[in-house]
Amino acid sequence: MAVLTEAQTEFFEAKIARDEKIEPRDPMPEGYRVHLIRQISQHAHSEVIGMQPEGNWVTRAPSLRAKLILLAKIQDECGHGLYLYSAAETLGISRDEMLAQLHAGKAKYSSIFNYPTLTWADIGAIGWLVDGAAIVNQVSLQRTSYGPYSRAMVRICKEESFHQRQGYEIMAQLMAGTRKQRAMAQDAMNRWWAPALMMFGPPDNDSPRSHDAFNWKIKRESNDTLRQRFIDKTVQQAEVIGLTIPDPDMKFNEATKHYDIGPLNWKEFYEVIKGNGPCNRQRMDHHIQVHEDGAWVREAAQKAMLNGHKPA
Ligand code: 3HC
Repeated sequence: MAVLTEAQTEFFEAKIARDEKIEPRDPMPEGYRVHLIRQISQHAHSEVIGMQPEGNWVTRAPSLRAKLILLAKIQDECGHGLYLYSAAETLGISRDEMLAQLHAGKAKYSSIFNYPTLTWADIGAIGWLVDGAAIVNQVSLQRTSYGPYSRAMVRICKEESFHQRQGYEIMAQLMAGTRKQRAMAQDAMNRWWAPALMMFGPPDNDSPRSHDAFNWKIKRESNDTLRQRFIDKTVQQAEVIGLTIPDPDMKFNEATKHYDIGPLNWKEFYEVIKGNGPCNRQRMDHHIQVHEDGAWVREAAQKAMLNGHKPA
């Protein structure tokens, strides 16, 4: 583990103080590097695992247009995972090591992807709420201090807005439909609202990583600040299409000009991130199985590259 010289520490801290991006070849504290590998690799795992719940509905999409849009979104998520794995690799960890950590349960992925997609409305709720939450988090992360991560966020945010819009369109169409369709949309809202709020992480006073994250300007806004921003904008979107927010305690606070919400079920959150969510086992088993089934493709590609055949 390289210990920085005094001059290197000053160089790193001065760049952070000037809000300049830290680049892969810059000297950086080992703690900074390890913190970033943890966060970026878990972000990448989330993008790839997140393809599973949506993939369940490709063959059952209600129209060819809906199928095309869903396929395009899932393909985007795969690309997001690629950008992020590549950003993490600039910190000196290999793809194989990151996947081994995931498969061994040593690395997390976002809690939200451990919930089942029971109806087509869930695909709308994921696009609108999950990608909507991801946009709030990732727009803030565009200002993260690590250059490759920040640039990946700029690219990803451009595609997320399409994801959020297509999800909201699905929910709006259902809410303009039959009574059964409206009930399906509200049921999805009821199941996805709280887990989407918990995507932003534990409350600030229970976020052990935030202190370092702020010191190193990896995180620029707190979990609660981003959660509140998402709530404030999403409540109004729900009202426009007639969806009810499943929180009887939620009310607009005239003094703060924000929506106050009722308590979230953090016990459920910690159970889910410990691996005891509704779909954790299924998600991991599938990821491991597909990784093993695809080993021959990786070997063939590596052999072809070694023999000088550049992929077309
Ligand atoms: N799911 C799983 N684990 C979570 C979590 C969540 N929603 N929120 C927090 N955690 C974990 C943290 O990873 C940490 O555990 P660790 O030390 O083992 O890694 C622990 O809970 C404590 O949380 P902290 O708030 O102290 O940790 P962070 O400072 O890392 O903040 C975070 C958590 C806000 C999720 C931050 O890591 C982050 O911004 N990550 C990047 C964004 C991201 O990963 N998004 C995932 C969704 S990707 C997505 O939505 C794809 C979209 O296209 C659909």
